[in-house]
Amino acid sequence: MESPLIRPRRLRRTPALRRLVAETTLLRRDLIAPLFVSETLTSPAKISSLPGQFQHSLDSLVAAVDDLLGAGVTAITLFGLPAMKDAHGSQASDEQGILQVALRRLRSEFGDEVVLMPDLCLDEFTDHGHCGVLDGRGDVDNDATLLRYQEIAVAQAQAGADLVAPSGMMDGQVGAIRDALDGAGFSHVGILAYAVKYHSGLFGPFREAVDVSIVGGGNRSTYQQDPANRRESLREALLDVEQGADIVMVKPALTYLDVISDVASAVDVPVAAYHVSGEYAMVKAAAERGWIDGDAVALEQLTAVKRAGADMILTYFAREIAGKLDG
Ligand code: PBG
Repeated sequence: MESPLIRPRRLRRTPALRRLVAETTLLRRDLIAPLFVSETLTSPAKISSLPGQFQHSLDSLVAAVDDLLGAGVTAITLFGLPAMKDAHGSQASDEQGILQVALRRLRSEFGDEVVLMPDLCLDEFTDHGHCGVLDGRGDVDNDATLLRYQEIAVAQAQAGADLVAPSGMMDGQVGAIRDALDGAGFSHVGILAYAVKYHSGLFGPFREAVDVSIVGGGNRSTYQQDPANRRESLREALLDVEQGADIVMVKPALTYLDVISDVASAVDVPVAAYHVSGEYAMVKAAAERGWIDGDAVALEQLTAVKRAGADMILTYFAREIAGKLDG
């Protein structure tokens, strides 16, 4: 048979050739590490469904961030586990709340070397486990929740956040938070908006990590998006940009690569994607059994998320894979 003129394999022959023609390069600076800090712990506690991840004490959080910075990962998002929960999640906005204490500590230890983007939500702080406050019928009250988000945003900004990251999927949350930050003199503090967040089974291990369960067997389907919908995500992302989002995020990542791609071509702000707890846990579980090569699959998955259009990725793999990436 006549050999074809075009032979794509020519460019795959050596590692140097492959590097030269790579269309996507995952870098250390693309990674954002999610971390958990507990008010009650004095030493770190393993999270069994997230092997290699911990609920941190304040001191072990500082050590973990120091280690991340040493490895070239300079951005983190932070979740707080309070000692006390109540109906309004009062610890989320308390100046002495664990998240605020941790932010102040990290800012004083590391200055501006680290980018701090605390999660802004109520579920870790409410006794009912929902991302908002409830009305008389037990439904999440959108506009009453916005008032709480405004208070939390200001508290996090005061404690040193570079960007706040609202993840509760309330309508109007970005605009409300922008107003509150500007009104309190924090026009320089940005918003990383969880613009597109699906009602996903992949958040399972996270719930163990933050000790959250929703009372009465409820779920988040009245505020998180239906996985069946694609166009709706454009609407969510564009609304958030209109309201002042500095970065928009899609979450989870791998089951929504089409959505990441859509959003990346529709907006003119940076796009983040969250490779969530269940995505991490699946890789870890299969790798533990020797069924897949965990490092290879992690790199493949995160490269795919970037290829789809994400400029940055929140991932529990950040520390583990940093050494395999260029800066
Ligand atoms: C809400 C929040 C959740 C996650 C991040 N922020 C849980 C939820 O919406 O149920 C999930 C992250 C993950 O699964 O890794 N505060």
